[in-house]
Amino acid sequence: MPEEKGFSVRQDEPIWITGAAGMVGAALTKHLQTAGYTNLLTPARSELDLCSADAVQDYVSQHRPKHAFLLAAKVGGIVANINDPVGFLDENLRLVVNQLSACAKAGVEKVLLLGSTCIYPRECAQPMVEDSLLTGPLEPTNEGYALAKIAGLRLAQSYQKQMGMKCVLPMPCNIYGTGDHFDLARCHVLSALVKRFSDAVDQNAESVTLWGTGSAKREFIHVEDVVRGMLHLFDAETDGQIINLGPGTDVSIAELAGMIAEQTGFQGQICWDTTRPDGMPRKCTDNTRLKQLGFEPRVSLNDGIARTIQEYRQTLSNNPYSANAA
Ligand SMILES: NC(=O)c1ccc[n+]([C@@H]2O[C@H](COP(=O)([O-])OP(=O)(O)OC[C@H]3O[C@@H](n4cnc5c(N)ncnc54)[C@H](OP(=O)(O)O)[C@@H]3O)[C@@H](O)[C@H]2O)c1
Repeated sequence: MPEEKGFSVRQDEPIWITGAAGMVGAALTKHLQTAGYTNLLTPARSELDLCSADAVQDYVSQHRPKHAFLLAAKVGGIVANINDPVGFLDENLRLVVNQLSACAKAGVEKVLLLGSTCIYPRECAQPMVEDSLLTGPLEPTNEGYALAKIAGLRLAQSYQKQMGMKCVLPMPCNIYGTGDHFDLARCHVLSALVKRFSDAVDQNAESVTLWGTGSAKREFIHVEDVVRGMLHLFDAETDGQIINLGPGTDVSIAELAGMIAEQTGFQGQICWDTTRPDGMPRKCTDNTRLKQLGFEPRVSLNDGIARTIQEYRQTLSNNPYSANAA
């Protein structure tokens, strides 16, 4: 496996990063700052609401980015998606249309738009190849989010075809790691399990009850690998194709819970509330295209879990009340 090349964009060129306060955006911003990039445009939501077409248009025409990493989205786990289908479809559609249209009008050279493996059909053959896009109905619990992602990637491809704005379209599996939050009302499964089991150990709880049957299988990538992968793909010749970004291996939620329980030192019982939905039965990417482009993730799931547990413990010692939050 050849080591990926460095990021070829010049350090003084203006790069717009949306969602820079989020898990992926913050990791990318930090990585580029450390690498000496001096012209990063990273407005917070309070400075630029991406749902406002006029504000986005004004910002981009004023700052004239040469490249863009469009990472902002309304993101959430299964509970958040079920509770707010309007928000996940409406906001995500508006965000993506506004950002792409402003980039095209301002002549941005290359745009990376981060998608998701939620775009693939619920009954997709596993592992999921990129060509299975739009071959069947979507998973209903996150249909709005997935539809907005699909519309975004097709719009980006259309801008490339019709106007020559190059697009890079990675489709990451479940992302976790540094900068993820631990608010159970909206966090993702891995962080939720880290919080649940760490808190159970601290509280000497005898059991932890988790949603679903535990049989659903998921694939995870550490945010550090997402950053490396995005930069690698930005430089590669991807021809506007979608590219799965993941290790290509999955685990069941029960296995994941077991790994996290063991690493946190939890020795009680794990119970399953089978009245709760599992979501899609299996989601594992075929990452052949990614490997052909010369990239593979590095952080193993075990190491990534260990780091996430350590980071959660750190947030607790910084704020001892956060264990009781959400
Ligand atoms: N996390 C995953 O497992 C996963 C998996 C596959 C794909 N992705 C994709 O990866 C990207 C980054 O995800 P993430 O996990 O880093 O999410 P995140 O931590 O929730 O960050 C999302 C960012 O988008 C910003 N944002 C949302 N709506 C906005 C608006 N109207 N105006 C301005 N900013 C807005 C948020 O701002 P605030 O900070 O103000 O809320 C936040 O900074 C997203 O496109 C997501 O769809 C994530």
